Amino acid sequence: MARRKQIYEGKAKILFEGPEPGTIIQYFKDDATAFNNQKKAVLEGKGVLNNRISEFIMTGLERIGVPTHFIKRLNMREQLVRHVEIVPLEVVVRNYAAGSISKRLGIEEGTALPRSVIEFYFKSDELGDPLVSEEHITAFNWANPQEIDDMMAQALRVNDFLSGLFAGAGIKLVDFKIEFGRQYEGDMMRLIVADEISPDSCRLWDMETGHIMDKDRFRKDLGEVTDAYREVARRLGILRENE
Ligand code: C5P
Repeated sequence: MARRKQIYEGKAKILFEGPEPGTIIQYFKDDATAFNNQKKAVLEGKGVLNNRISEFIMTGLERIGVPTHFIKRLNMREQLVRHVEIVPLEVVVRNYAAGSISKRLGIEEGTALPRSVIEFYFKSDELGDPLVSEEHITAFNWANPQEIDDMMAQALRVNDFLSGLFAGAGIKLVDFKIEFGRQYEGDMMRLIVADEISPDSCRLWDMETGHIMDKDRFRKDLGEVTDAYREVARRLGILRENE
């Protein structure tokens, strides 16, 4: 890695100052964490796969007019992205019950939800990213009502795009998490999709067999985590069959 200024180190990524103002380099690590950092491992090759998968998805989103922070992939582990002010919320969209909604509301995993459900979680490692309502978001000024509407509309567009993309690869999109950032240009501000979209942040089940192809393999100790990510990349046509 070239010498340059590190801005932030997260659980799965490192951010470095970019070559031009308003840009950042996002480096994908092999580290995996779950349950708010209680479980940790290094999964060799995960960062390389997530870099490619996230590039592929963000590029597809840009193509359908959903603005993202992605500019270009630089190498195996790095991409150039737009510098944004991250909205301190995780936006989750669910199509089928799994994970925390199953636990919280007692819905059997795999149950189709009556419609896609959007949830907001406050980004806080100390608090374990609690579920929050729109009331909390506006009262504590994490986002304003217009921004909430905008995030919900964009999240549903991302859901439509991703559901179709994965369905074409024989994969069911159970749920996913995205993050948004504020991009300032002069006195203009727009919300764009930031962070990453990868099997670390989605639940992906094989349509035929129900085989789990996402980070739940790590959370639930199912093994063969990167193999599953590689299979996702292959099915999306990002990797050739023998890669
Ligand atoms: O755990 P939960 O069921 O709330 O997760 C919903 C979706 O959000 C899953 O796809 C999970 O991988 C993703 N998620 C994430 N980062 C978190 C929490 C959840 O990517 N901190």
